[in-house]
Amino acid sequence: MSKKATLEIDGNKYEFPIIEGTEKELGIDIKTLRGVTGGITTIDPGFKNTGSCESGITFLDGEKGILRYRGYSIEELAEKADFLEVAYLLIFGELPTAEQLDKFDKDIKEESHVDEDMKRILDGFPKSAHPMGVLSSLTSALIAFNPGSVDVDSEEAMYNAIVKIMAKFPVLAAWTMRKRKSLPLDYGDSSLGYVENLHKMMFSRPNKSYEANKIVNEALDKLLILHADHEQNCSTSTVRIVGSSHAGLFASLSAGISALWGPLHGGANQAVIEMLEAIKADGGDTAKYIDKAKDKEDPFRLMGFGHRVYKNFDPRAKIIKVSAEEVLGDLGIEDPVLDIAKGLAKVALEDEYFVKRKLYPNVDFYSGIIYRALGIPTEMFTVMFALGRLPGWIAQWREMRLRKEPIGRPRQIYTGENFRAFKSVSER
Ligand code: CMC
Repeated sequence: MSKKATLEIDGNKYEFPIIEGTEKELGIDIKTLRGVTGGITTIDPGFKNTGSCESGITFLDGEKGILRYRGYSIEELAEKADFLEVAYLLIFGELPTAEQLDKFDKDIKEESHVDEDMKRILDGFPKSAHPMGVLSSLTSALIAFNPGSVDVDSEEAMYNAIVKIMAKFPVLAAWTMRKRKSLPLDYGDSSLGYVENLHKMMFSRPNKSYEANKIVNEALDKLLILHADHEQNCSTSTVRIVGSSHAGLFASLSAGISALWGPLHGGANQAVIEMLEAIKADGGDTAKYIDKAKDKEDPFRLMGFGHRVYKNFDPRAKIIKVSAEEVLGDLGIEDPVLDIAKGLAKVALEDEYFVKRKLYPNVDFYSGIIYRALGIPTEMFTVMFALGRLPGWIAQWREMRLRKEPIGRPRQIYTGENFRAFKSVSER
């Protein structure tokens, strides 16, 4: 028997179906609520209790610390797959066969150039511009050079737009960094794999032959996989809601990049390193910063701690913590900031404030330490997150289009003034 929920308002009873996901999650289906109740709505700021869609892409269980892409565990994917395979899996639903992967790779390589006029747009930004703002603008600007990316009414047109952005996005990301460093813009080398080519595009020097580093590329690959999707988070919901107006893929992604930029979301990885640096500069007194984070009068929050969904541990943070230690060890880097991070995590994990609120280190707590070890400048950290999240955004956008979801348009409860007559300036 299918489950039902009953709502009683002023003695009137209304029944709503309860839908069950494949992992037995239950959701009250209130699609008919306003119709049957005569306009009563729900209110849920921050959507803490609201499911915006049904999705077959990513499953996460915040209590058990489970994260799966299309059914595959994040632990197994991080260990056994590469980023391009994971991107294909997320976007198209299945792990690619050798031929499918080869075609995807070739199609991407075929598109991995950007119109030269895009360089003029990049040129217009001051060097001090934050890379996330630049990346969002360049992604939006790409539409003008690829007008076909807007008309995505067929699977084929969608595929073409997907391949184009998978190909051009790393070029744009690398360019934002090269511009800041006054390095000539580069197109990488299409004989290299996706991640290795990204690394080359970011770090190659005009007067030096590029030498690939296996440890670096493997760490980068893993980081991108761990960031590749995370169901209906702030930036993904943004991508879906912008796309629901039938804005094209690139426009939806550009909005997602802006959403990711914020320090409560992807921007946290930059904020974490800045916080750890500040603690170090202040003598490394972690207890002082724990107290600040607990003080409700103080706006300071322990960056890299807490998560809307994970209430036990963030499985990505678990993998990244081990990875950070390995990468630093393999590269022979001693980073005092890692010790501060570990000290801070130890104190916080034993502190009643954090225990009671179920605040644990999240993915961003350790990722910045690896990015730093890989030589990536702090202000580029969130761009790295965006590079990883790209296939997730694409997958979610594609799913939303294929399911023909209606335009996203939440309701509100109005709490402003009631009707009042206009007063001319002399009467005010
Ligand atoms: N430091 C100190 N207190 C915190 C923190 C923190 N980092 N995070 C949450 N709290 C407290 C908060 O003050 C509140 O306390 P009280 O119940 O006394 O009012 C309680 O914990 C619940 O917090 P919330 O803000 O209602 O929780 P949320 O689900 O709305 O926010 C969050 C989740 C991730 C925005 C938040 O934990 C936070 O701001 N963390 C720091 C930023 C960060 O690391 N963000 C990266 C998230 S993971 C990457 C991603 O996917 O974006």
